[in-house]
Amino acid sequence: MKKLYIQTLGCQMNKSDSERIAGILSEHNYIETDNEKEADLLIINTCSIRQLSADKAYSQLGVWGKMKKNRPNIKIGICGCVAQQDKANIRKRAPYVDLIFGTHNIYELPELIKRIENDEKVCSITNNPVIKDQNDFKIIRKDSVNAWIPIIEGCNKFCTYCVVPFTRGRERSRFPKEILKEAQNIIKEGFKEITLLGQNVDSYGKDLGDKDITLANLLRELNKLEGDFRIRFVTSYPSDITDDLIDAVDECEKVCKYFHIPMQSGNSRILKEMNRRYTKEQYYEIVSKIRKRFENVTITSDFIAGFPSETEEEFQDTLDAIDELELDYSNTAAYSPREFTKAGRMVDKFIPENIKYERLERLNEKNREVCLKSNEKFTGKVLKVLVEGKTEKEGKITLNSRADNNKIVHFESNQYNIGDFVNVKITKAQTWCLYGEPVE
Ligand code: SAH
Ligand code: SF4
Ligand code: F3S
Repeated sequence: MKKLYIQTLGCQMNKSDSERIAGILSEHNYIETDNEKEADLLIINTCSIRQLSADKAYSQLGVWGKMKKNRPNIKIGICGCVAQQDKANIRKRAPYVDLIFGTHNIYELPELIKRIENDEKVCSITNNPVIKDQNDFKIIRKDSVNAWIPIIEGCNKFCTYCVVPFTRGRERSRFPKEILKEAQNIIKEGFKEITLLGQNVDSYGKDLGDKDITLANLLRELNKLEGDFRIRFVTSYPSDITDDLIDAVDECEKVCKYFHIPMQSGNSRILKEMNRRYTKEQYYEIVSKIRKRFENVTITSDFIAGFPSETEEEFQDTLDAIDELELDYSNTAAYSPREFTKAGRMVDKFIPENIKYERLERLNEKNREVCLKSNEKFTGKVLKVLVEGKTEKEGKITLNSRADNNKIVHFESNQYNIGDFVNVKITKAQTWCLYGEPVE
């Protein structure tokens, strides 16, 4: 068998795609390796969300291009969001690339691979994905505890800063029957956690033309499956969180009480400029509804610092929102102009780099502060965790786990194993994690 090395950048959707790529290629004579030096085929699955992510892809290609000078028989491939965006232009910067394929072309791989093996240079990018039952294809999952199921791909929202609608196309939901079948297989294989994925996971079903197909009802169906496992879903778009979804999370004991709901900015004018379809007040309303309903719930978010035209006062609204909403954790980034996007053309309103990064630093400082506060809320409480990893040092075994509400919890024990659910009493809180001890 030939050896395949895949490097994955970007979001969980890309990680999930890489598992599918590895699965398909495993049935066409390629076995995965962790060592790029011994690979016959090198693939980079790329992200284009910020310029930095796209640059990373090209610099990795550069390294592999040099490798190919000494080993001309190796093949180099690029896929994911940069491939979808830059298409055959990639060869202008990296002429040694053998295979370029887009985010909708994964299921063509058996044929594409044959062509590059015959020394053809291949570029396959389509904007109109062919709908396939993904259960017909093998998946090699990287994790042994958590399994991802993409349920909706693409995005119809067109936030003015974001490239995703251009790289992932319009929203396409998979049919519930297909998702349930994938979930059943996952549980049979012994996974303990299913994470439903979507760029806007709570838009699930809208494109299928049946009002009963919603994320809420899908959660209810998945919750009925037998077995000891839990369910998560990411990422939620604030105004698509319906009361019915909150009800479903409440009703379903297997569904984690955790919401990732990017707010992006705490100022309504900026939200409007971003084409986000909610105001600051509406976001506050959603958070308050969720907090009222669930006891140990956590709510996490994403924020962008220095969106074009953002004033100091407007940025201050973001810091205030994080405080007032007591957000449990946030991903943060400095605004990065992207090709094709509306905000990318607001050049005269760009915020100078030094101010942007100074705001990002303050955003990160605020995040650290609220994160510690959030963690401290849990000391003394008992959380049900799922063990995901194990480290051994000087004879002591530390188990690394995640609570239902997504908090990272470490505890010492030689009684439990990876994949076990354990009740842990929290004894200590730090900024990024909790410590505790198992209780009966
Ligand atoms: N669909 C999700 C977000 C997906 S993109 C949502 O609507 O919330 C992941 C995160 O990347 C976004 O939440 C945003 O904070 C960040 N991001 C997207 N485009 C960006 C850009 N041009 N510059 C900086 N950060 C960006
Ligand atoms: Fe990007 Fe907005 Fe779509 Fe999220 S909702 S993927 S931020 S365009
Ligand atoms: Fe990046 Fe594409 Fe995901 S741009 S964040 S890999 S959808």
